[in-house]
Amino acid sequence: MKILVATEKPFAPVAVKGIREIAEAAGYDLALLEKYTERAQLLEAVADVDALIIRSDKIDGEVMDAAPKLRVIVRAGAGYDNIDLEAATAHGICVMNTPGQNANAVAELVIGMLIYTIRHRFDGTSGTELRGKKLGLMAFGAVAQAVGRIAHGIGMDVSSFSPLNRPQKIIDAGYHVHESREALFLYNDIVSLHIPATPTTVRSIGYDLVKSMKPNAILVNSARKEVIDEAGLLRAMEERPDLRYVTDLKLDAHDEAVEKLGNRYMFTPKKMGAQTAEANINAGLAAAQQIVEFFRDGVHTFQVNK
Ligand code: 3PG
Repeated sequence: MKILVATEKPFAPVAVKGIREIAEAAGYDLALLEKYTERAQLLEAVADVDALIIRSDKIDGEVMDAAPKLRVIVRAGAGYDNIDLEAATAHGICVMNTPGQNANAVAELVIGMLIYTIRHRFDGTSGTELRGKKLGLMAFGAVAQAVGRIAHGIGMDVSSFSPLNRPQKIIDAGYHVHESREALFLYNDIVSLHIPATPTTVRSIGYDLVKSMKPNAILVNSARKEVIDEAGLLRAMEERPDLRYVTDLKLDAHDEAVEKLGNRYMFTPKKMGAQTAEANINAGLAAAQQIVEFFRDGVHTFQVNK
């Protein structure tokens, strides 16, 4: 039995060591394909593998065709929009994620990006504070809950809208529940996006919502760039020179945004949310463990395709 870890953006070495230990204890071989630059490298590497651990790596039908023995793919992380689930089902491949395992890392980055932004990138001028500001969480999954926990500790006024219409968790956390995303955007000083990229959410955050935000509001995106209607965002921000967009996911229209928005567009050079040793260990080891349990006991608890 052979597991391949295929990560264009590699795990911390300590996480790879832990994955190897789990694989070898179960009697499996572990192969590594890190920092690959060509799709051909991935197609070649999957040829003889039974299981695959990936991150945001794109896995489509062509990759599956090139992997005739492949039975299980574990996305070490939350979002699985990078995997063609229909193709996986057609190939008889089980796809799982590791929900929540990297959530704290993403949440800490959100807070860090916000502080960096409102302290004017530490340029020596007088900034503002998070304490007392209204923070609206768009959706209330693991990352949003972790952001809420930290923000609450800082003294922010946290609220949320759950598009899945399951507000009980928000109520249990003690936060105000919004009835609509329009209300969320109108009410808060900062709106943080925590929705996945799905056919319903793609390009769903655009001109009207952004234009409706409070004076000096900030929109934060640590989720997916695909949920943004980029033309709408840019138009709203050009009309509203007080707004800021803070993101871990550079826009496709990055150069245009830099030119038009200047410092009001704050971005990380590469998606950094889950890029901590702890998150890599949590998600990577969970992925390895899920593969062992899948083959040994038929466990497929976190399966996301049917
Ligand atoms: C996730 O969906 O788990 C996060 O977006 C992290 O993605 P990454 O593993 O590519 O950093």
